[in-house]
Amino acid sequence: MQAIAVIPGKPDSVHIAELERPTIDTVPDGRGVLVEVLQVGVDGTDKEINAAEYGGAPPGYDFLVIGHESFGRVVEVGDGVDKLKPGDYVTATVRRPGNSIYDRIGHYDMTTDETYYERGINLLHGFLTEFYVDEPEYLVKVPDTLAQVGVLLEPMSVVEKGIVQAYKIQRRLRLWRPKKALVLGAGAIGQLATLVLKLRGLDVVTMARTPPPHLKSELVAELGARYLSTEEKELGEVAEKHGPFDIVFEATGVSWIAFKAMEVLAKNGILILTSITGGDEKVEIPGDQGNLDFVLHNKVMFGTVNANREYFELGVKDFAHAQSEYPGWLPKLLSHPVEGLAEYEKMMRLLTTEKQAVKVFLQVKPLNDG
Ligand code: BGC
Ligand code: ZN
Repeated sequence: MQAIAVIPGKPDSVHIAELERPTIDTVPDGRGVLVEVLQVGVDGTDKEINAAEYGGAPPGYDFLVIGHESFGRVVEVGDGVDKLKPGDYVTATVRRPGNSIYDRIGHYDMTTDETYYERGINLLHGFLTEFYVDEPEYLVKVPDTLAQVGVLLEPMSVVEKGIVQAYKIQRRLRLWRPKKALVLGAGAIGQLATLVLKLRGLDVVTMARTPPPHLKSELVAELGARYLSTEEKELGEVAEKHGPFDIVFEATGVSWIAFKAMEVLAKNGILILTSITGGDEKVEIPGDQGNLDFVLHNKVMFGTVNANREYFELGVKDFAHAQSEYPGWLPKLLSHPVEGLAEYEKMMRLLTTEKQAVKVFLQVKPLNDG
């Protein structure tokens, strides 16, 4: 079967690789699940992997099959599988457990291991192929009613984790009723963060580079949030007018903005960092003032990566909620479809050059001819 792969360490090496079709007996105790891939989304991580800034090949291979945002249909299950059956729609978690204590209790997204294993990113093949086999533990069932947007559940899981962690951390305050949030970035993660914060009842300002109107600004407005362009407004100005912000969710992929965001947090506020920045940009920051402000006002800044199945399941619930609250909104995030694995060059081109794309995704097979 065909797969879209890169040679880690070699820039622009994306190509079609041949893989053997996997079988369920590669997983012991009859726990194998064979999934046919329907859709796979791509993001900044795939861009960085193809730029040789990130990622590693599985042992024994010189290539890595990319793609970690998956949506597929179960075609076969082993004797030991009872919660999934052929025909079920599923998405898959990305990271697989290592050895740290967190890995052993199902919180592999919190691993302290030096080496981490992520499908399509590091040391494990991803989903941009025709079939894959995995264990039920890493497969999350997607209700038929959400099939159209199931491919968005992986980025959603990353957002859910960030926001859940923020609320958990803020339990330090005994009483915390966040009212205003700022989301930086209006790509898929920024849009989904805006959605979740709106569903939690906050007033949300979402900022990204390009002045409105365009798809990204319209999507933000449809949620009842406010879109502002960083080219037209300084962060400080925005905070004066619409802040200060109890929650800032950073998802621009640009590291200096993460540090700039420290300056617009409310007292006791929390800054969530989610951008994967594989380069080596340096930034100069007002160290004394920034530090003093964080100390004097009990502020928090934390990083969050990946997500375990708990956050995928929460994503499923919030997607159902979003469908009733903002009908028709989620499918609009799927702005740039690409048909068929053979179109991998087009996929990469859209991913690297189409600034207005919210989500570029590859349609491996039609959703409904199973
Ligand atoms: C993925 C995460 C992953 C992270 C770091 C992100 O693009 O969505 O699942 O943990 O990259 O590799
Ligand atoms: Zn990702």
